[in-house]
Amino acid sequence: MSFRFNFDVDDSGDRITTPEPVAGNFSVSVTSNIKEEKEQQISTQAEPCEIISLSVPTVSSIVVDAVYYKNQQLWKRQIDDVQFQLAQQDSMDGSNESAMVKAMVEDKNASDVIKGVYEGGLKTWECSIDLLNYIVDYSDEISKLINGGNVLEIGCGTALPSLHILRNISGACVSMQDYNKDVLELVTMPNVLSNTDLEPPSGGDSPGYKIHVDGDTETCEIDLDYRRTQVLFGDNTDNVIGERDIPELTKDEAEAADAQILNYADIKSRCEFIAGDWSEIEKELRRYERQHSFNLILTSETIYETSNYKKLHDLLACALAKPAAKSMGGNEKALPLPMALVAAKTLYFGLTGSVLTFKQYVRSQGIFNIECVWQSGGSMNREILCLTWQAPPQHI
Ligand SMILES: C[S@@+](CC[C@H](N)C(=O)[O-])C[C@H]1O[C@@H](n2cnc3c(N)ncnc32)[C@H](O)[C@@H]1O
Repeated sequence: MSFRFNFDVDDSGDRITTPEPVAGNFSVSVTSNIKEEKEQQISTQAEPCEIISLSVPTVSSIVVDAVYYKNQQLWKRQIDDVQFQLAQQDSMDGSNESAMVKAMVEDKNASDVIKGVYEGGLKTWECSIDLLNYIVDYSDEISKLINGGNVLEIGCGTALPSLHILRNISGACVSMQDYNKDVLELVTMPNVLSNTDLEPPSGGDSPGYKIHVDGDTETCEIDLDYRRTQVLFGDNTDNVIGERDIPELTKDEAEAADAQILNYADIKSRCEFIAGDWSEIEKELRRYERQHSFNLILTSETIYETSNYKKLHDLLACALAKPAAKSMGGNEKALPLPMALVAAKTLYFGLTGSVLTFKQYVRSQGIFNIECVWQSGGSMNREILCLTWQAPPQHI
């Protein structure tokens, strides 16, 4: 299934719509001359690396869909709701738009990936669900491996695997990376908040949350202004608000409330967000010798272009933790080895990347072992590959 953007917003104001299906096949866009020119201009300059901390979306409410897997549930921001925010911001002030937002607002039929401008992070791709299920199936091993340490999700987009880890593995610190800062702010951060500190209550509506169930699908509108009013006015909230009449907050009040929401948010110290091109991130991590040793690295649907293999591989080699001395020999019980799990389709039709060529590339570099640890089977096979250090990595 191929997803296309559509920025027409229903002016009835009803923003709760059917949850979008998980994205399947890619459609990479180079259709109009304008876009080709833009891509040529932009693709020569890789997105710079920027490390940002959690913030509350600057809107009055967000709409999230329930995602079910293995008897568990997560919430993720609805793409229609993101489109609604972009369309509103565009009509108010188009001046601060990024290349990604401009491309999407200008072209309502923008495709899944616009090379060098937008790399597909606003929606959830099939293989990230595979990765999520795999993490649940091997939850004991994964918990031992993380062991209160750091996890990195490369090309996270909606970041479902990271959300699961943040919710279920205590003490884990998760860094979430995406090419586009906008993706991190529009979906990744709202998803982190709506699965932790702003999580919808189970068992129906409650103040600040409007739940909508339609057959098997469940959607919730989280009223951020209600929450803001709550942190500003505490026990007096209901008097201030009245039944349905939430007072409009000034910009200063909203900012003060957001700062307080984040002060209360235990999750803030357990997550960070890294925007930019993989080559820039690797440079940044090396340059400042940041704490960037990750016991577990996750990535899904990121090997669709062979031209990206080198930078993805180099980032893995820079960021994956070195095995603890004990796990490299001796009589002591081996500790789990740091590993990177790469979920991907076996073939990407019409694109250059594939599992086979990625494996060949990794083997040709002589740094990691790579093996398939899971396959979906069927005509459109999907796989999970596991990369571990080939030998004590003195050469890195
Ligand atoms: C198709 S999306 C997959 C998103 C998510 N992992 C999923 O499976 O739902 C590809 C992801 O890889 C990231 N990506 C692709 N090329 C990149 C590059 N050169 N530098 C940084 N990130 C890149 C994008 O930001 C995007 O989130």
